[in-house]
Amino acid sequence: MKESFDVPLVEDAKYYEVDKSYKDNARTRDYKKTYREFLKAPDVFWEKIAGELEWFRKWDRVKEWNYPYAKWFVNAQCNITVNCLDRHVNDSRRNKVALIWRGDDEEERIFTYQKLYHEVMRFANGLKKLGVRKGDRVCIYMPIIPEQLIAMLACARIGAVHSVVFGGFGVGALNMRIQDAAAKVVVTADISVRRGKSISLKAIVDEAIINAPSVERVIVLIRDKEQPVELHKEIEIDYDELIADVPSECPAEVMDAEDPLFILYTSGSTGAPKGIVHTCAGYMVGTYYTTLHVFDLKDNDVYWCTADPGWITGHSYIVYGPFCAGATVVIAESTPDYPDPGSYWKLVQDLGVTIFYTAPTAIRMFMKVGEKWPNAYDLRSLRILGSVGEPLNPEAFEWYYEMIGKKKCPIVDTWWQTETGMQMVTTMIGEPMRPGFAGKAIPGVVADVVDKDGKPVKPGTGGFLVMREPWPAMLRTVYKNDERYRKYWETIKDCYTAGDLAVKGKDGYIMVIGRADDIIIVSGHNIGTAEVESALVSHKAVAEAAVIGKPDPMKGNSIKAFVILRVGHTPSDKLTSDLIYHVRMTLGPIAMPHEIEFVDKLPKTRSGKIMRRVLKAKELGIDPGDISTLED
Ligand code: WT7
Repeated sequence: MKESFDVPLVEDAKYYEVDKSYKDNARTRDYKKTYREFLKAPDVFWEKIAGELEWFRKWDRVKEWNYPYAKWFVNAQCNITVNCLDRHVNDSRRNKVALIWRGDDEEERIFTYQKLYHEVMRFANGLKKLGVRKGDRVCIYMPIIPEQLIAMLACARIGAVHSVVFGGFGVGALNMRIQDAAAKVVVTADISVRRGKSISLKAIVDEAIINAPSVERVIVLIRDKEQPVELHKEIEIDYDELIADVPSECPAEVMDAEDPLFILYTSGSTGAPKGIVHTCAGYMVGTYYTTLHVFDLKDNDVYWCTADPGWITGHSYIVYGPFCAGATVVIAESTPDYPDPGSYWKLVQDLGVTIFYTAPTAIRMFMKVGEKWPNAYDLRSLRILGSVGEPLNPEAFEWYYEMIGKKKCPIVDTWWQTETGMQMVTTMIGEPMRPGFAGKAIPGVVADVVDKDGKPVKPGTGGFLVMREPWPAMLRTVYKNDERYRKYWETIKDCYTAGDLAVKGKDGYIMVIGRADDIIIVSGHNIGTAEVESALVSHKAVAEAAVIGKPDPMKGNSIKAFVILRVGHTPSDKLTSDLIYHVRMTLGPIAMPHEIEFVDKLPKTRSGKIMRRVLKAKELGIDPGDISTLED
């Protein structure tokens, strides 16, 4: 990890007050008081929230903390889908709209809680018919369509562990994830639709399962009924056929609080992606609570998170949190700039979206194309705005606040991670906002900025963002690699190390600056340098590769690769585009290098490790810091 970095001037950032009506009506009416209450009796705080949900059996103890292993709601039994579905169907929300899906041609599909409930149970029965049982892993590789969410909930219904893989990933990334989790079934669709064009997902699955012997069946949802794909009947099965004759009732599997709910892969700073494991009860309570309190969700809200359910943002704040809270959730298989840069604002207007949650990279794109796009639509329904994925820079904050929120809507800049499962640091509704700062730890979380020995740094000084206490939705392990799990808690004494650099202001507000390790955040997506490097090296022309992130005004960072060629290959534009294409096919478009430089040598330590820091400093014309370990 880095040990020093430039700290921005933090104390001159001004405050933005939020209209009093927000504070008066907020679920967490008094942040400071609530936080104090939490600190005084953390277990009582969480127990109260958990008590709002339904359980087959309640807990014996709220938590058991055995550093670095936590159990939450010990010996409780539950099923998250009971809280996502049954609870609402059995009360006044039966006919409430649970889900509105929009395609990029404005086709619309609407599910009430009642309808979603039955669709989930039918698909759950379909999975059972194929022999899927509690604990089996199911890989879901789908576009943003209702069936993607239905498949997730159906797995949870029967206790199968889902591993959702973002539909934009390439063959190599999908194959690695299927293999690591030893998935028994893969759920996919023939196509995904992007900017009016069909992309074959199934073709990618066909290749990705070639050397994945664990896969017994592939369920294919056929969307293109005019030119239906042909299925290989021995292994592939039509989604609609599978559920044609199943009962629409499927009892919820009784899950222990600590049974795994899902695995979700995230980039690591070294080697292969990590399968982050989340469990049933703590994750349920954490996402339910934050959805209600961070977004201050009310029963008549129309909630739209623009993420893909294939990322943790979608798991926690499209599916589990909002459904547990009984929200009306909008999803869209759309792109912010298609058919024009007004598409999101049109959707907000059409559906009367009240809570809108997106990423800084999208906001910066909107800033670039100008305010004529949002100004062409009626955005008065908006009540609360959110941001996630990377730092929301002050310029983007101000634009979002003025152009979209019309100086009325509070913005919650939410810091959290795949590993944390739930939002951790933000500015709770009603508290003054400070552009550039995510805010403070929410009630329920103890965050700090510390030096490498775990000592809090002075205000205005940079350090590492850490958590000092466990929280319910925290990861429990890294799938089949507990050693990597322990590293989170062993890097800095007595703390969970997030891997981010941060600064704390005198007021306690936290500004997140960026990663402290070799992870590059491109358009809000985590990409490990190691992943891109190994994709490059798998090309026959490449001997060695090193990858760095370069600041990019739109994407936050872009990827630059330094490549040493094998003997017999020479640099050319054609080779550059071949290599970029190769990474695209292996990992997917999000991990594509933006720039490739052919070099003869890479800076290395005497022990042979590539010093990316040196490459980066040279590229950006800054001081490389300590280079005493450099080879020559
Ligand atoms: C990393 C986690 C959590 C959902 C999306 C990403 C960065 C995330 C913020 C924010 C500054 C942020 C951090 C973090 N990050 N939110 N509000 N301000 N940085 O999940 O893929 O696990 O990435 O995203 O660097 O460690 P993820």
